[in-house]
Amino acid sequence: MTRLLIAIDGPAGAGKGTLARRLADYYHLPHLDTGLTYRAVAHMLIARGWPLGDAPHAIEAAKLVDLSALDRSVLSAHAVGEAASKVAVIPEVRKILVDKQRTFAAQPGGAVLDGRDIGTVVCPDASVKLYVTASAEVRARRRLAEIEAKDGSGDFATILADIERRDERDMGRADSPLKPAADAHLLDTSEMDIEAAFCAARAIVDDAL
Ligand code: C5P
Repeated sequence: MTRLLIAIDGPAGAGKGTLARRLADYYHLPHLDTGLTYRAVAHMLIARGWPLGDAPHAIEAAKLVDLSALDRSVLSAHAVGEAASKVAVIPEVRKILVDKQRTFAAQPGGAVLDGRDIGTVVCPDASVKLYVTASAEVRARRRLAEIEAKDGSGDFATILADIERRDERDMGRADSPLKPAADAHLLDTSEMDIEAAFCAARAIVDDAL
């Protein structure tokens, strides 16, 4: 069997999660949203009332993360994402989670992993690397539409400020900052709907097969 390992990175809200799920489905590959692993650590700390910057507790929590028990419905809350980007700066936490992510990536038929450091750190030998991005304004508009579709309401300026703050934290950290791998294909989805982004991504993957 040919091993196909697809690495997808990009900032929050660029559409990489949806794209990763669509590609995994299309190529019949298992998929891991690595953001959920950082969210799981943050969620555990919050649930136990432990401070987010407390490395020893965060390390304990990271060891307990079980990839087969990541519950998106609990972990998708906005506050958990914010908290995740704070625990993600702790190098020991990253090391523990990266080991688990690499085990997932080593499945015989391959896999799709999405996150911030897949092409650069977790799977530098991936068959194909995509760096999915979109302008901060477009990502904020999409996030607002998502919230409104769930009957919620949000403020564009607040969402935009949140996105810019998270970008800064993810791109500015010392350990494994968010950046495109040298051999990543850049996919700017600012002017694309999900269907167009999926077609463009599929063409890049097919080309690499
Ligand atoms: O992608 P998601 O929004 O779920 O990620 C939450 C946070 O987890 C990110 O803002 C980032 O700080 C961290 N993360 C990371 N490396 C990854 C995936 C996520 O540092 N591979």
